[in-house]
Amino acid sequence: MKNNKIVIPGSFDPITIGHLDIIKRSSEIFDQVTVLIMKNINKTGMFDYSIRKELIELCTKDLPNVKVDIYTGLLIDYLKSNSINIVVKGLRNSRDFDYELEMDLINRLLDKNIQTLYMISNSENLITSSSNVRELINYKADISAFVPSQILKIIKEITGYPDESFRIN
Ligand code: PNS
Repeated sequence: MKNNKIVIPGSFDPITIGHLDIIKRSSEIFDQVTVLIMKNINKTGMFDYSIRKELIELCTKDLPNVKVDIYTGLLIDYLKSNSINIVVKGLRNSRDFDYELEMDLINRLLDKNIQTLYMISNSENLITSSSNVRELINYKADISAFVPSQILKIIKEITGYPDESFRIN
């Protein structure tokens, strides 16, 4: 069965240039891309789900086939209730691979119809991660190499950077 709807799940806390690259490349291949903000029980959240959604919407406003949603249950349940069976994820390195391998197998154990496809990150994004961004934010350090430029100012306002020039190259 041909199916051109996909979901890109993640915690997106916050969205990075690495995420945005995967979203853009997916939007060129598939008819409808849903960026799905989900709960990762192993991570303590920094941004509210509604703020994460706003940030992703700002970054993807020029991509008409991309929508953003929030779901705090199981991925397979979201997929089932939206009649989607394809998931796309970015892969940076073998650590991502090991993690995704288990997730993929568990998801397919729960629902055999789910297929997860992987996109290798661009070389410039290999050290880009939301957890690195959160760590830098914690120290009010420069995050401009990792976060889409259109949301940089908002993130700094929300997280209380002292002023526009502080630690920005
Ligand atoms: O960006 P992340 O934190 O690597 O994304 C991980 C996420 C949120 C996609 C993963 O934790 C997830 O799928 N959470 C939803 C619950 C679920 O369906 N888990 C899979 C079976 S254990």
